Amino acid sequence: MERLQKVMAHAGVASRRKSEEIIEQGRVKVNGEVVTELGTKVSVNDEITVDEVPLTREQKVYILLNKPRETISTVDDPKDRDTVIDMVEGIEERIYPVGRLDWDTTGALLLTNDGELSYKLTHPSFEFPKTYVVKANGHMRKKEGTFLEKGIKLDGKMTAPAKVNILSYDRRTNSTMVRITLHEGRNHQVKNMFKEIGYPVDKLTRESFGFLSIDKLQSGEWRHLTPHEVKQLEQMVNE
Ligand code: URA
Repeated sequence: MERLQKVMAHAGVASRRKSEEIIEQGRVKVNGEVVTELGTKVSVNDEITVDEVPLTREQKVYILLNKPRETISTVDDPKDRDTVIDMVEGIEERIYPVGRLDWDTTGALLLTNDGELSYKLTHPSFEFPKTYVVKANGHMRKKEGTFLEKGIKLDGKMTAPAKVNILSYDRRTNSTMVRITLHEGRNHQVKNMFKEIGYPVDKLTRESFGFLSIDKLQSGEWRHLTPHEVKQLEQMVNE
């Protein structure tokens, strides 16, 4: 037997917390009866509906995609552009991206139907590390890297400490390759940080999402996480 909100989160309805709200709003029925009690336990044989829609207990799926450029990190796009979900063929479950990468950003993106894990991984308090390789316009020096490491003001709020390595400078294109690891995920954060110090981003790739790296995946390729990797993620978020 498992708690109703946990079963809902695992089925991809919403995060556990949001599922609790949905239960309290009287939108959930178990075997035809409205249930508003949060501690309610259900078994695999119980029939659960949310807003009268039967809950299908999908297998949990965890996919690491090397997102190509010119794809959008949403499940559907009203303008009918390619989404990251279009990249992953043959998956029946309703997966969605954990966080977002911009249209022109490439690299590591986790896709899952595990609402609870997704919620925890993207929650600001969790500080999950994400490493990016940036091609920045101009000749960036170590000193400017240190500014970014210590934190700069974006939209009136300091960025969290980061790790920055200047990798190389190409005089021909006047561009600097930089590796940066962030522990937060504000909107367009990398681009905004580099722009703020005068080195606009030409190209951006997320090299790794925590310990999950794209080094063996070509652009557009994906793979399932191993059971061990899933366990590692769960351990990290539950610590
Ligand atoms: N920071 C950005 O600016 N863009 C991304 O896609 C990811 C991080």
